Amino acid sequence: MRFLVSAGPTREFLDPVRFLSNRSTGKMGFAVAEAAVAAGHEAVLVAGPVTLPTPDGVRRIDVVSACEMLAALERELPRADVLVMTAAVADWRPKALSPVKLKKAGMAATLELVANPDILKTLAPLKGRKVFVGFAAETGDPTEEARRKLVSKGLDLICANDVTVSGAGFGVDTNIVTIFGRDGSRTELPLMSKRAVADHVVAKACSLL
Ligand code: CTP
Repeated sequence: MRFLVSAGPTREFLDPVRFLSNRSTGKMGFAVAEAAVAAGHEAVLVAGPVTLPTPDGVRRIDVVSACEMLAALERELPRADVLVMTAAVADWRPKALSPVKLKKAGMAATLELVANPDILKTLAPLKGRKVFVGFAAETGDPTEEARRKLVSKGLDLICANDVTVSGAGFGVDTNIVTIFGRDGSRTELPLMSKRAVADHVVAKACSLL
């Protein structure tokens, strides 16, 4: 099977030195790509700005913004059997991108934003028989939001975690994930390494193909 995995944050620049982003480090997505290769699959990793080394056997495409991530995924998706979106895509970007550094004097105190595309929703018409897997990092019990996103984004599976629980947040090597299926299934995984979570995700996605 061919896995297409997105990972990390996106950066939305307002000038050459400043950007909007989030705390994602890319660890979960890199683990999924590594797990896919270990299970004998091909893996292409579309990575936002992260400092992680590329896992052996993985083809990596680096991107910066949400729009670049969407373009790379649109190019790669036709050859993929499974799409796993672990990326923490910035929902908004500054309306204007200044080519020169903005100066404090003359800079407005409010930043005008425009919505970024929802990548999963944009790719949904290309889904066909491919398996689409989303991730949802929530604060508090993620069940309701996970089920809402599973339906609204047309996913087969969504892996949800509560980032406020120790061992399940940003930058750590572990996660506590519940996997919700479109068929109503719910698999609660205990605290385990992101790589072990990734093995479950890869196996579950393959079982749906
Ligand atoms: N996602 C996406 N495009 C976006 C934002 C999110 O494809 N612009 C994907 C993520 O990669 C993830 C899933 O959608 O797999 C859920 O991400 P999340 O940020 O929780 O979704 P949002 O739609 O931004 O939800 P919220 O209403 O919580 O902001």
